Amino acid sequence: MVESKPLLPFFFFLLSLHLIIIANAVHSSQQKKLFNVQMLQRKQQLSTTSCFLPESRQEKGTVILEMKERDHCSQKKIDWNKRLQRQLILDDINVLSMQNRIRRTISSHIVEASETQIPLTSGINLQTLNYIVSIGLGNQNMTVIVDTGSDLTWIQCEPCMSCYNQQGPIFNPSTSSSYKPILCNSSTCQSLQSATGNRGTCDGSNSSTCNYVVNYGDGSYTNGELGVEHLVFGGISVSSFVFGCGRNNKGLFGGVSGLMGLGRSYLSMISQTNATFGGVFSYCLPTIESGASGSLVMGNNESSSVFKNVTPIAYTNMVLNPQISNFYILNLTGIDVGGVALESSSFGNGGMLIDSGTVITRLAPSVYKALKEEFLKQFSGFPSAPGFSLLDTCFNLTGNEEVSIPTIRFHFEDNAEMNVDVAGILYIVKEDASQVCLALASLNDESDIGIVGNYQQRNQRVIYDTKQSKVGFASEPCSFI
Ligand SMILES: *[C@@H]1O[C@H](CO)[C@@H](O)[C@H](O)[C@H]1NC(C)=O
Ligand SMILES: *[C@@H]1O[C@H](CO)[C@@H](O)[C@H](O)[C@H]1NC(C)=O
Ligand SMILES: *[C@@H]1O[C@H](CO)[C@@H](O)[C@H](O)[C@H]1NC(C)=O
Ligand SMILES: *[C@@H]1O[C@H](CO)[C@@H](O)[C@H](O)[C@H]1NC(C)=O
Ligand SMILES: *[C@@H]1O[C@H](CO)[C@@H](O)[C@H](O)[C@H]1NC(C)=O
Ligand SMILES: *[C@@H]1O[C@H](CO)[C@@H](O)[C@H](O)[C@H]1NC(C)=O
Ligand SMILES: *[C@@H]1O[C@H](CO)[C@@H](O)[C@H](O)[C@H]1NC(C)=O
Repeated sequence: MVESKPLLPFFFFLLSLHLIIIANAVHSSQQKKLFNVQMLQRKQQLSTTSCFLPESRQEKGTVILEMKERDHCSQKKIDWNKRLQRQLILDDINVLSMQNRIRRTISSHIVEASETQIPLTSGINLQTLNYIVSIGLGNQNMTVIVDTGSDLTWIQCEPCMSCYNQQGPIFNPSTSSSYKPILCNSSTCQSLQSATGNRGTCDGSNSSTCNYVVNYGDGSYTNGELGVEHLVFGGISVSSFVFGCGRNNKGLFGGVSGLMGLGRSYLSMISQTNATFGGVFSYCLPTIESGASGSLVMGNNESSSVFKNVTPIAYTNMVLNPQISNFYILNLTGIDVGGVALESSSFGNGGMLIDSGTVITRLAPSVYKALKEEFLKQFSGFPSAPGFSLLDTCFNLTGNEEVSIPTIRFHFEDNAEMNVDVAGILYIVKEDASQVCLALASLNDESDIGIVGNYQQRNQRVIYDTKQSKVGFASEPCSFI
């Protein structure tokens, strides 16, 4: 009893010290995350991973497709400096042309339905689309680039007038009994206008085949005939899938067979598989530098989820804008940097596209300015470095193994949050870390439409529910298995 007197205060001292430590730990772990600055150098030392085609499987009524980076099979040693820098330059050009098209579309007073829905497909720069999956068409397996910004799925076809080099054989419809061309007088042929921006062309008679053309922003193009075939993935077969059988194709497609369009119009993969998957798809985009796999999931089993998310899924309603109806649009209501809420009158005005083909997130100038100021306040003590392309807030982090960086969290209508993964906050422009930049950028004009880019969507489950018109987010370390 006598001894307990001096011990008791000491005990309380220890207890309070302990609580202070816990409080600090919780406090700081909410505000900052550790970023591995040496990631790229370490990646270089790893031997090239063996090259397997992406796989797929069926689970609980959904189909799960493995997503890989587009040139994971390339034998060439990747020059990261060149690759990461070129990606930024292309992304800048891409978004400028996209903004121009959106501005023109919104300001045009043409009331004809087909004209008010000019697809933005044609602004897309294929070189910034980084992810591929495998699908089966007829009796053949092939890899295609995934794009939520366009609608028509197409592949190279024999007999080919002009085809770029691809890995594996080119699809030959004459060897498939399930392939059928689409006729010119069909409503499917007429829907090409809204899916690709170009009307279907015909040879004159109604019984001739329907020819399509898709042009991309970087000068790439594909044209050929529209056809139907069995689409097979993860053991599920979708009959009469409409796609472009490309007879004349040009572009930097990186050895893939073609492209899968996950946009919103009638001809997109999502619309066409609506009966099987309920108009729902989701993806988890892995970090390309780490060589990890991600997944594209068609469908969603709500009673028994197939996702590997580590936080609950939070949904926000899509904003409907009939003038740019091919896009998925969200209502950004706020942003936190390290837990500090930014102030801007641009929040809540309802215009933020979510796009898998744009790399860097673009924010209204007032929002970006506030974000940059708060980030610099919390990430201080590092020497600054010159800006690169569209990124203007850069640091020289040479000599640091890891740095502690402020978290960034986007808030959308209905209290949905997207916590940007630590791999989506800084962009390594130079492999030696002498130029590492805040991976967000400003739009030119306050009235331009914002974009949530794929760099900030890494390691997230992003769910597009076109039936209920909502988009969900949850943190998920991407993997296929
Ligand atoms: C969801 O998963 C459960 C459990 O595997 C299964 O019984 C059910 O049929 C699935 N639902 C759908 C719609 O496929
Ligand atoms: C296509 O892939 C599936 C699943 O990986 C496989 O079962 C099938 O044999 C493949 N078909 C061909 C023709 O290679
Ligand atoms: C094609 O069909 C449309 C109506 O479906 C008709 O007006 C047109 O005359 C036909 N053209 C030919 C060349 O048969
Ligand atoms: C299209 O043309 C073919 C051949 O002329 C005809 O058999 C078919 O009924 C037409 N379809 C439509 C929707 O007009
Ligand atoms: C899928 O079908 C539902 C109705 O069954 C519809 O509301 C939704 O818009 C369709 N989605 C697409 C992308 O066509
Ligand atoms: C966006 O959300 C805010 C907050 O809920 C709301 O006040 C605003 O009207 C919404 N804007 C649009 C375009 O839906
Ligand atoms: C970056 O910092 C390192 C270490 O402080 C220094 O040696 C190097 O010269 C700097 N590089 C540039 C491009 O400023």
